[in-house]
Amino acid sequence: MEKKRIPLVAGNWKMYKTIAEAKQLAAELVHGLEKFTQVEVAICPPFTSLLPVKTLLEETSIRLGAQNMHWENAGAYTGEVSPLMVAELCSYVILGHSERRAYFGETDETVNKKVLAAYAVGLIPILCVGETLQENEAGKTGEVVERQVKLALQGVSLSMSQETGVPLVIAYEPVWAIGTGRAASGSGANTVVTQYIRSTLADLFVSEIAQSVRVLYGGSVKAGNAKEFFTQPEIDGALVGGASLKADEYIGIVQAAASSK
Ligand code: PGA
Repeated sequence: MEKKRIPLVAGNWKMYKTIAEAKQLAAELVHGLEKFTQVEVAICPPFTSLLPVKTLLEETSIRLGAQNMHWENAGAYTGEVSPLMVAELCSYVILGHSERRAYFGETDETVNKKVLAAYAVGLIPILCVGETLQENEAGKTGEVVERQVKLALQGVSLSMSQETGVPLVIAYEPVWAIGTGRAASGSGANTVVTQYIRSTLADLFVSEIAQSVRVLYGGSVKAGNAKEFFTQPEIDGALVGGASLKADEYIGIVQAAASSK
């Protein structure tokens, strides 16, 4: 039996917010999001703010995520944070974000190592995939997205639990839509999710799993355009960057999710 997909709105704070600022924003969100119980909300602050923000989220249903991690649990890797460390604080970890792929040399292979490492410590990956503008214009969207999904999930076996569903979230984030103010169209994103993401998942796993994985859209989502995505049948929420840094905007996006699904 397919499990109903609960909408998820996740905020990627990127490299913004000092501890004091992060606590302030988290406090505003705790206050403003209380009533939206039909949507799952997660926030992903920088590493330095994970613990202080976690303290504020106790007694709430807002979940915490990290934006990256190494794949080894410990070792001489100066400057890195391990899966075990992230798992002490978080439920989710964003992996393979296009900024990590573009600026920090992440490849399908390293993303795959991180995905496997996340499962080994009980973290749920929010796996980011998406084509660049150049790839899009060259008609390569399908090829790129399928490859990213397939390679990231090599060696992964997924099963479904009655309480939590399938422990995988995929975010379709066309690179040309991230931080540009130029979002994809809702129907265009829905087509990519159906044709390239869920169909690849169905090749890799059984179709029940493919239908139960939550797939988010990301790229210039704001309170004003969120509904266009949330009303698509195959899109289960959003990964939000810039608009997750302002309490009003983010609450507006969660509200749109609550009223659309
Ligand atoms: P954006 O970023 O909402 O600022 O476009 C999305 C993301 O990078 O996840």
